[in-house]
Amino acid sequence: MCGIIGYTGSVFAASKVVLDGLERLEYRGYDSAGLATIKGSGLLVNRGSGKLRLIRSVLEKGMGSESVAIGHTRWATHGKPTEENAHPHVDNARRIVVVHNGIIENYLDLKGELSAKGHRFDSQTDTEIIAHLLADMENPDFLVSFRQAVLRLEGAYALAVLHVNYPDRIFFARKNCPLIVGHSENEGMFLGSDPAAMLSYTRTVTYLNDLEYGYIDPTSVHLFSLNSGEPLPIQKEVLDWNPVAAEKGGYRHFMLKEIHEQPDVVRNTLGGRLDEARGKVLLPDFQISPEQFSKIDRIVITACGTAYYSGLVGKYVLERLCRIPVDAELASEFRYRDPVINEKTLVIAVSQSGETADTLAAIELARARGATTMAIVNVKGSSLTRRVDGTLYIHAGPEIGVASTKAYLAMVVGFELFALYLSEIRNTLSSDSRREFIHELKLIPGKIEEQLKHKEDVLQVAQKYQNYRNFLYLGRDYNYPTALEGALKLKELSYIHAEGYASGEMKHGPIALLDRDCPVVAILSESSVYEKVLSNIQEARARDCLVIGVLTEGSTHSASVVDDSLITQRTIEVLSPLLNVIPLQLFAYFVSDLKGLDVDQPRNLAKSVTVE
Ligand code: G6P
Repeated sequence: MCGIIGYTGSVFAASKVVLDGLERLEYRGYDSAGLATIKGSGLLVNRGSGKLRLIRSVLEKGMGSESVAIGHTRWATHGKPTEENAHPHVDNARRIVVVHNGIIENYLDLKGELSAKGHRFDSQTDTEIIAHLLADMENPDFLVSFRQAVLRLEGAYALAVLHVNYPDRIFFARKNCPLIVGHSENEGMFLGSDPAAMLSYTRTVTYLNDLEYGYIDPTSVHLFSLNSGEPLPIQKEVLDWNPVAAEKGGYRHFMLKEIHEQPDVVRNTLGGRLDEARGKVLLPDFQISPEQFSKIDRIVITACGTAYYSGLVGKYVLERLCRIPVDAELASEFRYRDPVINEKTLVIAVSQSGETADTLAAIELARARGATTMAIVNVKGSSLTRRVDGTLYIHAGPEIGVASTKAYLAMVVGFELFALYLSEIRNTLSSDSRREFIHELKLIPGKIEEQLKHKEDVLQVAQKYQNYRNFLYLGRDYNYPTALEGALKLKELSYIHAEGYASGEMKHGPIALLDRDCPVVAILSESSVYEKVLSNIQEARARDCLVIGVLTEGSTHSASVVDDSLITQRTIEVLSPLLNVIPLQLFAYFVSDLKGLDVDQPRNLAKSVTVE
């Protein structure tokens, strides 16, 4: 939600670094964007409304080889996505310029106070007041003023600020929104919302914590505590992400590339964690001990969006394999509904970014009530990983497409791994069963590769169905969440209304929607509930619906009861969500692309939702 990038150093033209970084961050928001630098003794600020590729020339105007710049790509919260609401925002004297991710909750109070003192405001944003508040501080040392002003802000913020008197510094502060410093040996210093923004320059980063502030200059970072004003030690981490992973690599869209990366993503998630001969999952770096897990009598999984659907698969898998009660809950509900959890509950938060505001708040609540907390996360060092007792990284690499594909798959793999691990601690699965499971799990990447070879078949189905306005996705048991995820992908990417439903529930309502204008996408792969789903499909067909079936290869009987087929490979039932979701991702991708829509940046969405 909103992306920030800053650079200070004399090796590169700062505006170029920032514009390139904004391109990488655009998945965080793409309503409008802006750039600011210090030129001579004044500020140069360029802003525009719309996607970066359309306004790039506006942002570049007048920018040369300046050595400091900050930029912002916006997902509108306060104020429409117009040019005047785009960041950066300046004070009336044009000496201070601010970009901000987050929401300042007391901005109306501050605005009233500053207006009474004569400050004039040009936008409807909460951010603009920060520039004015900074200008209103009287201490001649701007770092002192900066701290005083930031301490008056309520809400969430990641801030990057330039002041004309300090032409090689970028001031920053963070509370409840991600912010990272990038270090490069001789090439300057970076600031950003996400490592992806600076990956082509450096992989050495410092993740800032909440209530920290300071500044970067061309050679170093100066870090302080907002509460005490005292200096803080700098902790550096070296990321294992490859810069090429954040490029399109010859694919038309990031999403298509990420769909194709999935076989390798599964290999990476499993990498070094399986001992097939002994039927064991190895998690040597896991910070929660088997003894702690053995005390748990209930699991709650919490997440948002696609990550939540991976959690629903996790619920089915964990209960089946580990014989322990599991609930999956939307983090935005969980955090406010006073849930019953205690020291014997394990709360698992799942998140690609590790920065989703509701998911972070849910885990805070769980901690406060004494639960053991764990995260299944993609982004190394992200906020979530620093708030839980243990983290299982999914190693999906940077995901740029706003609609999640490879991270979803890796999260499901994460749950399969964890369920196997826990089943040994709880003694609920024989080692023979675990061996068989591991054997099948290792075959999954090859099977996905095989399915991807037939993507043209999915394209043909997409061509036939692209103009329908409503779809019903049906699945059952392990693949009920797959139906939800498939419907979400179509909705997000193509703006077609698509509803995911448990197929057994169809008769209790959605059946009223069915007619020849509402195709059904049914997950009809081989399973213990195959016959049940089949009956539901017959009921749909009796209402003249067209049916697209997700079918196991070679299943001729199923092919005869559907109008069109999306074929998947055969695997054991508990792993079937990993294969069944692939054609649904491709279907949504092709429909969106055929309609000429922006696949990687669907309207109104943002990849990382760091505000409530
Ligand atoms: C946004 C994204 C979704 C994502 C969700 C949770 O809504 O558009 O793709 O699933 O946030 O994000 P997380 O980073 O926590 O997985």
